[in-house]
Amino acid sequence: MLLVIDCCLRGDESSTRAYYKAFLNKACCKDVEIVKLDELGLMPLDGETLRERDELISRGNYEKFCLARQFKEADEILVAAPFWDLSFPSMLKVYFEHIMVGGLTFGYDEQGRCHGYCRAKRLLYFSTCGGYYGERHLGYEYIKALSVMLGITECIPYIIEGLDIDPSKREDILARAIEELKS
Ligand SMILES: Cc1cc2nc3c(=O)[nH]c(=O)nc-3n(C[C@H](O)[C@H](O)[C@H](O)COP(=O)(O)O)c2cc1C
Repeated sequence: MLLVIDCCLRGDESSTRAYYKAFLNKACCKDVEIVKLDELGLMPLDGETLRERDELISRGNYEKFCLARQFKEADEILVAAPFWDLSFPSMLKVYFEHIMVGGLTFGYDEQGRCHGYCRAKRLLYFSTCGGYYGERHLGYEYIKALSVMLGITECIPYIIEGLDIDPSKREDILARAIEELKS
């Protein structure tokens, strides 16, 4: 199963969503599960939820960590999020707080080395930006580092840049990037 984490908060107006949907079409992906983050009502961890969570983890009770279990079992992951304020919308960070569960999706060995326990070996990161960042795309850098922590060895960027420089060219740039996707 390919798990899609959709953090495209402009809904069907979103270029990032159009981009990854075109990819799914071209790649003829069949077994796909899409999680739209804006439909989950996720809250950031706070003192109380952190205490509850630590208590469950200390008892090895992972039943309530549905999102983390779903992420751990996926064969492949696709994350889609626009470039916001030099990385991505905070809703995606909140989602990560919910799937980063010690002992379930990652853990440490006796030497203090981190190991990821997720099945997926590949994460595809779809993003679109208003400007140009090249190698310094902090959203992608963050996702790549997180993938390593979760045991996902390959993190592949699908990034379109410069969409807001001249708004009249936005649709053309997007269409060209979609055209360039391998079928
Ligand atoms: C809240 C917000 C923050 C943004 N921050 C940046 C930014 O830091 N750098 C940038 O180049 N573009 C920024 N943009 C522009 C978006 O990255 C760009 O328009 C993108 O294509 C939007 O993707 P979407 O159509 O999937 O929503 C921002 C847009 C919004 C709404």
